Amino acid sequence: MSSELLPEAAPSIPYGLLSFDEVATEQKEAQSDKCGWRTLADYNEYIFYEQDTYVSWEGPTGAILKDKSNGDEDASLINVLEGIAEEKGRPAHWADMGGGHGFAMRGLSLVCRSKDKAKPAMTHVDALVRDPNEISSVVMDITECNYPDILNPKYAPDFIQADIHTVVLEEPADVITAVEVVQYLNNPLAAIASWYNQLAEDGALVVTSDHAWGTWNRYSESTGPLSQQRFPIEDFIVALRRAGARCAVSSANRSPDRENPENMEKIRRLVIEKMPDTEVVINSELDYVYTNQHDYKIPYYKTPEQGVPLVEVSATNT
Ligand SMILES: C[S@@+](CC[C@H](N)C(=O)[O-])C[C@H]1O[C@@H](n2cnc3c(N)ncnc32)[C@H](O)[C@@H]1O
Repeated sequence: MSSELLPEAAPSIPYGLLSFDEVATEQKEAQSDKCGWRTLADYNEYIFYEQDTYVSWEGPTGAILKDKSNGDEDASLINVLEGIAEEKGRPAHWADMGGGHGFAMRGLSLVCRSKDKAKPAMTHVDALVRDPNEISSVVMDITECNYPDILNPKYAPDFIQADIHTVVLEEPADVITAVEVVQYLNNPLAAIASWYNQLAEDGALVVTSDHAWGTWNRYSESTGPLSQQRFPIEDFIVALRRAGARCAVSSANRSPDRENPENMEKIRRLVIEKMPDTEVVINSELDYVYTNQHDYKIPYYKTPEQGVPLVEVSATNT
């Protein structure tokens, strides 16, 4: 994390579970000057950029998604969803956590229509109800939303207004995405675990942000330089991999000017594939959450007691 984003003082705010109203109030304030209208093309770039990056314990993010694709060379969400539909013999279900204005899903509907393809089922979840009509024409011009019809309600996905930490999807999802969202979460590990548990068999979870969010989630007991610390998300990934789940990580930065070589900026894109009939449980609570001046969160987790794993992957009883 670049220095201007570092906590200025030791965090001191004890963390309590927020109610939905508190989350919505907090996000209304936090998102007032943020965009939240990324398009389908933006999502593809966030998800697939440098998908084959491989650094030490990391694995290529693309591998998991490519395997699900329809065989088309282009790495894109639409090809992944089409591949899943072919494989499963039913429309794929894509859920977008913190989808903002829902433009990526609207874009996908439009592309499907223009190519005469079946539309996947789509669920957009956000704490805020956001009106896409409030996006100015200037913004519309620089996006694929050159299609004026994108604002037509017929392209809107199903919408659930909820806290994405606790939302319960009506149907398991084949693909769950969280794009530029994880840095606003008070408890990203709990959210990621909950999303994993709501994936369909062999489904894929994609958490991606330009921020090096992996090192923003910390153990409260850890001290010393970041480069020598262990981070909860590493332990999370290692536990899933040991249990046999495929997890892929890319640290490639789409904005190299933001790169800070002094920091270990390990994770920008995480893809996890659901192992059929498994669920994950997190054995750690938050000590506190620091919120910086950009409304980004730095959650501090308690180290689990000796012998207790941070993440348990167990068989479901279904
Ligand atoms: C920066 S916007 C990104 C929107 C969209 N994914 C995009 O890339 O354009 C973050 C979104 O996450 C939502 N969000 C953040 N925390 C949330 C929470 N706990 N529950 C539900 N939505 C949340 C915000 O309301 C906002 O719409």
